Amino acid sequence: MRVLVTGGAGYIGSHTVLALVAAGHDVVVVDDFSNAKKAVVSRLEELAGRQIPVHAFDLTDAARTDELFATEQIDAVIHFAAFKAVGESVQKPAMYYRNNLDTTLSLVEAMQRHGVTRFVFSSSATVYGEHAPVPYQEDWDRLDSSNPYGQTKVMIERILTDVAAVDEAWRVALLRYFNPVGAHPSGRIGEDPTGTPNNLMPYLSQVAVGRREKLTIFGGDYPTADGTGERDYIHVEDLATGHVAALEHLDTMVTRTRAFNLGTGTGTSVLSLLRAFERAVGRELPYEIGPRRPGDLAVTYADPARAHAELGWRATRTIDDMCADTWRWQSQNPQGYPED
Ligand code: WQD
Repeated sequence: MRVLVTGGAGYIGSHTVLALVAAGHDVVVVDDFSNAKKAVVSRLEELAGRQIPVHAFDLTDAARTDELFATEQIDAVIHFAAFKAVGESVQKPAMYYRNNLDTTLSLVEAMQRHGVTRFVFSSSATVYGEHAPVPYQEDWDRLDSSNPYGQTKVMIERILTDVAAVDEAWRVALLRYFNPVGAHPSGRIGEDPTGTPNNLMPYLSQVAVGRREKLTIFGGDYPTADGTGERDYIHVEDLATGHVAALEHLDTMVTRTRAFNLGTGTGTSVLSLLRAFERAVGRELPYEIGPRRPGDLAVTYADPARAHAELGWRATRTIDDMCADTWRWQSQNPQGYPED
């Protein structure tokens, strides 16, 4: 299939581009490069062994989005493009609603005009909110989120569900990720957050490479084995193959819209991840235990049984793989990608 990957120069998008090529699909990337460097494209072409068409514009521009579908023969869309910083979304809710919803609506309307009916959406485990029982299951029907970023994911799942409900040709997969980490084993692409990383793994890898003084563990008094928060960390390469599996499942999917958890089904504590990263680096890393971060849950992890049964997909990489691959990327690219 010829697949439009929105946000294809981003962290998960870029890894998915390579997985699509490896599975024999053609790829077209659209990215506004608001949160990605141009250098990603040349790295992708180096690793894919082929040129990759890239359109650089903002998908909130409905006219340009329609023109893209008129000029490129798109069979399916995998939609990553979005603002995704939880904390920033609390400070700038209107910007998040405008961007994340308008990009999606531009895509949906262009797809309707051009007869494209296959959609894979990059959703998030954050849609389960604070009250869903762990391990999270897809049939939980009270989706909610404590922050505007997560609310945009809840709303977009609703938009896509309603669009598919009135067009029998549509098939939509809603992929709910847990905590994406790791990097392509080549070390040529990886996570390169702008500014100070919000998330644990990129912060930890920047401590290891000397860009940050030490890790602050947010809370050592949670009701867990070692007192630190537990999350379902999933290797970005497993996420990428999960997207290909979902895309290739759409044609045989009975329901028009279906959610799938992409996780390992296992919780790992912050301290455990730190120790695994120290094994990857070969030395101890400086850290302190600080206060809990407001809004954090103690334990979250997936029930991935539906993805196993219906997509024939399973996460295979271990925590040590995630740390080794992250460290290879970070140590080969101490400052991330070259500036544009
Ligand atoms: C993981 C654990 C922290 C940083 C977020 C978003 C979620 C999704 C994935 C998009 C927690 C602890 C972290 C640090 C720490 N993104 N931590 N020190 O919050 O589980 O999920 O990213 O969909 O929407 O909420 O990920 O990496 O921020 O935190 O101790 O410097 O690491 O308390 O236990 P989180 P995270």
